[in-house]
Formats: sequence, structure tokens, C-alpha cells
Amino acid sequence: MNSFSDHCVDRAETSSLKWDRYKGRDILPFWLADMDFRSSPAIIEALRKRVEHGVFGYTLPDERLYEAVLGYLHNDKGLKAERDWIVWLPGIVPGLGASCRAFAGPGEGVMYCPPVYPQFMLAPVNQGRKGVRVPLARAGMSYSFDWEAMEKAARGVKLLLICNPHNPIGRAFSRSELERLGSFAARHGIIICSDDIHCDLVLDPEAVHTPILAIEEAAARSVMLMAPSKTFNVPGLSCAFAVIPDKGLRDSFKRAIRGMADHVNLMGFEACRAAYAESGAWLKGLLGYLRENRATLRRCIAERMPEIKIGPCEATYMAWLDVSELGLDDPVRYFEDAGVGLSDGADYGERQMLRMNFACPSQMLEEGLERMARAVDALREPVGPKSCSMQ
Ligand SMILES: Cc1ncc(COP(=O)(O)O)c(C=O)c1O
Repeated sequence: MNSFSDHCVDRAETSSLKWDRYKGRDILPFWLADMDFRSSPAIIEALRKRVEHGVFGYTLPDERLYEAVLGYLHNDKGLKAERDWIVWLPGIVPGLGASCRAFAGPGEGVMYCPPVYPQFMLAPVNQGRKGVRVPLARAGMSYSFDWEAMEKAARGVKLLLICNPHNPIGRAFSRSELERLGSFAARHGIIICSDDIHCDLVLDPEAVHTPILAIEEAAARSVMLMAPSKTFNVPGLSCAFAVIPDKGLRDSFKRAIRGMADHVNLMGFEACRAAYAESGAWLKGLLGYLRENRATLRRCIAERMPEIKIGPCEATYMAWLDVSELGLDDPVRYFEDAGVGLSDGADYGERQMLRMNFACPSQMLEEGLERMARAVDALREPVGPKSCSMQ
């Protein structure tokens, strides 16, 4: 077994949003996007040291933090970013809202492409902007941008929100897709806000994360939102940042967050530095563990639940499942009754889909899959008992 299993912990009684949804019920939670693993030892140590210091005053991002973030952008993402390009945020979601406020006027268009993380649909509405919904084009379980529909809908659109790698479909967009997106945006005078929160969770050897800022035509009209939160399992520490090369865009973005979302807590800064500077080996272990879990998931679905179609899972620790062949009125409810808590695709803009978070101990995943398989068996004509081969 991957030694990363040492990081698996029991999260009961820790006020976990993910676990408390089903408190007191025998339902395993595979819904919310956080992981059931302890964070990296370097992060825990950095936080411990800060706690021992015992003073928790207003804190600036220091040189070591900038060095860690700029080093990460350079070494991992191939971007020569400058210190001034970084705008600190208490989360990615405030960055989505700030982009809507900064780059589209009241009532002006903000395009997004569902199925997508629900905050993409909410951000324009929350800021009094007009959401322009252009679903991704789908062929089987593969999704990409619907270029024709985007062209048709582009009039009056000021901002495009994209998610790369994409939650929930699990794709890392290719360079050619992003180049096409860059020229689409340039042609229509649209600003791009790219949410890259899942960018260090690429699982497929053939897939790569290409940052929008690495696309020549897009770089000067883009805001890239990043955070250590998903990769290093520190979302409760509320630390994220925007990378904005263009000074005009950056100033507008900063104005949009002023007085509302321009403070990050010091524990978030500590975690962020230790994540990017000192947690490489831990991340390697994590990716290995997630790849094994993904293989278990794919195998069990193919063997026991072939009616369920699974998305590409190139990146992120979420599987996107099409359950339409099961013919269920309420798939979430059906699997909850079987002891498995999943996210409802309808919340992401596509019905008869479920999202399953597989960043959990392998035994928990196996138990969840066994429960799902039995629930699917129950929908069929009676046949002899089977079991998933988990190895
Ligand atoms: C694509 C995406 N963006 C943003 C977030 C949330 O970011 P934050 O907690 O930093 O606001 C999530 C959480 O699941 C996500 O999947």
C-alpha cells in the first residue's frame, strides 16, 4: 500500500462540513471537495511554530512567501511572474466575484460554461451582472468548449469565467483549446478569469495543466486564480491569490476587493509558504494515492456498474458520473439511501449526473463503491452475488 495512507485520519467530531452533513447516519460522504488526509508535515510544522509564537496580529505577506509563490510559478508553471502581479485573497470565490465587479458593469454579460462549479453561476448574479450560460459541448463523456455557441452568445459579454482543470468534468484544457479561447476573447474584447485551484492535481500522465497566462494572446487580458487549498488540503485556512500581469486589470481588481476581501489570515500565509516551498514529496505521495483510488473507482464501475459512465478524470480528485441509464428520479437520494453521499450534478448545471470525491482512504472508497454496486444490483433482474475486485 502507498505509504501515503499514513496521512488518512478520522474526521469525526472536527466540525467538518463534509462529514457533518450526514452526522449520526450511516452515509459515507463523497460530496464536498476536500480530502480526508492530513496536510503535509511541513505545513503542520509551520502552523505549529506560529501557534507557539502566540501572537496573532495583523500580518503582511513576507519575502519568504513571495519567494515560495514566485518560485512555484516559475518552476512548476513556467511563468516568470513578478511580485506586483500577485493579489492576495481570502478565497477563490471572492476572486470570482471581484472579477465580475471589476470587468463587467451592472447588468453586463459574464459568460460561463456549465456543467461547472456552482459559484461560477452564482458570481454574476451575486454582483448584479448578467450570467450568460453557454454549456460545454459534450460527446459521450468528453467535453470541450462549444465554440459556435460561444460566438453566438459573445455580444455584450465582458468577462468569461473558466475553470482549469475543470471541476466537475475533470479535464485539464489543452494548449490548443486555450489558444482558441485566447483568440476568441481578444476578438470580442472579453477579459478571462481562469480558476486554476485544481491545477496541481493532474492525474493522467498524458495531461498537463497549461496556465492561461502561458497563452500569449490571453496573458494581458487574464486573471488567474490560484490557491494551495485543494492540493494541500488547507481550504479552511482561507488563503488564495490572483496573478494579474496587466496593471490596468490589476488596479480594477484591487478596487473591487478593497475593504471587503483584502485580508488573508496569517495561518493561511504560513500554510501557503510551506505548501509551495516544502511540500513537494508529500504532493508526490498524494498524487500516487489518488491515482490508485482512481484506478479502483474505474475498475469497480466497469466491472460492477457498467450502466454508469465515468468522465475522463484527467485532473482533480472528483469523478463525474453519468447515471442516466439507471432511470432514477432522484439519484442523490437513491444512493444516500444506500449509504453513499454524492454531489448532485444538477447543482453544476447537468441533471442525471453525480460527482464523487475519491480523495479519501482507500478502504472508505471500497466500502462506498460496494454500497453503490449493491444499490445498482438492486435495480436489475435478480442475478447471483458478485464483488468488486479492488486490486
Ligand atoms: C473550481 C473551484 N473553485 C473554487 C472553489 C472554492 O474556493 P475557495 O474555498 O478558495 O473560495 C472550489 C471548491 O470546491 C472549486 O472546486
